[in-house]
Amino acid sequence: MQSGHDITTDPKEVFLAAMRFRRAIKAFDPDRRIPAEDFDYLLEAARLSPSSNGLEPWNILVIESPELRERLHLEALLPQAQLRASHIIAFTAKTAKVLAEDSSHFRHMNVDVRGYPADDIEQRFTRFRSFLAEKLGLENDRAIFDYAARQAYIAMANLCTAAAFIGVESCPLEGLVYSAAEQALADAGQLDLKTDRLAVMVALGYRSEDPHRDQVRRELSEIVRVV
Ligand SMILES: Cc1cc2nc3c(=O)[nH]c(=O)nc-3n(C[C@H](O)[C@H](O)[C@H](O)COP(=O)(O)O)c2cc1C
Repeated sequence: MQSGHDITTDPKEVFLAAMRFRRAIKAFDPDRRIPAEDFDYLLEAARLSPSSNGLEPWNILVIESPELRERLHLEALLPQAQLRASHIIAFTAKTAKVLAEDSSHFRHMNVDVRGYPADDIEQRFTRFRSFLAEKLGLENDRAIFDYAARQAYIAMANLCTAAAFIGVESCPLEGLVYSAAEQALADAGQLDLKTDRLAVMVALGYRSEDPHRDQVRRELSEIVRVV
């Protein structure tokens, strides 16, 4: 069984070795826990991720509760073999209400976090709304939530790559009944569906069996066209 990626010092090769090591793991070893400092490293990789307009419209729930995991299995149909992973995390994303209807998140990010002056924040918010509507063509609340979720996926991907970098396995989890997962998180008091919805989950830990298939991808010649 593979236990870590090859050690080399060329940064290009180190990065690609991590990309090749990262596989979508279907079965995790229930007895191996990611050390706290390694898990913090993964969260930091997510935190440093870029986002459209710098709005970081995501949050991360670390799902430790066995009852909640069980509900996610029974009701949201998440596979047990992945739910037994060391860590299960959920990326949530902001809804249209807090992203585009009122300026609460925009103001918090720009004034409190990024230190911009508060006096013209409403004009900047108006420009942001017209960016969503006119430039991106986002016409309804669902499209605006999906815009937020796209940013959460960037953080998710960076977290998974960082995991591979330190020999931690991951599997993004989209194959679930979203409404049931959201309800379970809401009932546990961890999600206010008016302001935050589920974007994607990730299982993290160490494999208990190797993937059944090799990592295969299309050739670059099929993917890329210079125009
Ligand atoms: C957004 C996203 C959602 C995914 N959802 C699931 C899932 O629910 N269950 C699963 O077993 N794999 C899931 N995967 C894993 C993909 O099937 C996998 O990445 C792909 O087949 C390529 O295999 P590899 O990652 O091992 O190279 C997901 C991957 C991504 C990026």
